[in-house]
Amino acid sequence: MEPERKVAELIAKSENGFVALTGAGISAESGIPTFRGENGLWKKYKPEELATFQAFVSNPRLVWEWYSWRLERVLKATPNKAHKVIAELERRGYVKAVITQNVDDLHERAGSRNVVHLHGRIDEARCLGCGKIERLSEPPSNLPPKCGCGEIMRPNVVWFGEPLRQEDMDYAVRLCMRHDVLVIGTSSVVYPAASLPYYSKEMGKIVVEINPESTPLSPIADITIRKKAGLAFERIATILKEEGFL
Ligand code: OAD
Repeated sequence: MEPERKVAELIAKSENGFVALTGAGISAESGIPTFRGENGLWKKYKPEELATFQAFVSNPRLVWEWYSWRLERVLKATPNKAHKVIAELERRGYVKAVITQNVDDLHERAGSRNVVHLHGRIDEARCLGCGKIERLSEPPSNLPPKCGCGEIMRPNVVWFGEPLRQEDMDYAVRLCMRHDVLVIGTSSVVYPAASLPYYSKEMGKIVVEINPESTPLSPIADITIRKKAGLAFERIATILKEEGFL
């Protein structure tokens, strides 16, 4: 049986529903570059030069320029079929939540409601002084942007060496223990996010991986779809519609 059909069946019959755990690959078909792999961002930029607090302190303007360039791409991008089908599955109750490592808001723009951003959001700035968070509808005009309190603001994302927000991680762990999990477009190498599907597995839940390439998670996945996320979800949605589940 084709893997998309198996996954469609699992989605339709899942006892407690699925959570979607997503990474940069899900936004690749929307034109947002991934971090690793061919054309990955980390091939062109050194993470230690741009995505650490130390880098920010030594050159806030340079770090903001990089985030502004990425924010512009995110603002111009639109959700693809994978984001849209996941949102539809949430509306119909088959998907309970989205846990994303992505800092873009394409899940929300596709209509997903219950989204956890483990690594923060690129369209937010956070004050280093008072902690105020401001939504950015465009890149800030003066870099680095200043808060009303006088301190400078940083991108509201998680950098290397920084912990995730504890309540986000706790919630994500609880979701993965309760539900089957669709792991989509992540290289599954960045922890602690990469540990999440193992909680599902431990609890006897199903782990599905959708990724054109194999990852360290692949050996424990119950089903793998080796395709781009947009294509895979297009097919899954077609099958669910044919069978009367969507
Ligand atoms: P990566 O760039 O590490 O991995 C992207 C994955 O997506 C790879 O496994 C690709 O094979 C896969 N992929 C590419 N195109 C795809 C497509 N069209 N459909 C499905 N899969 C596709 O991205 P992440 O795993 O998200 O962290 O990276 C994790 C974290 O590393 C990021 O959140 C970021 C980075 O450091 C922080 O910024 C804290």
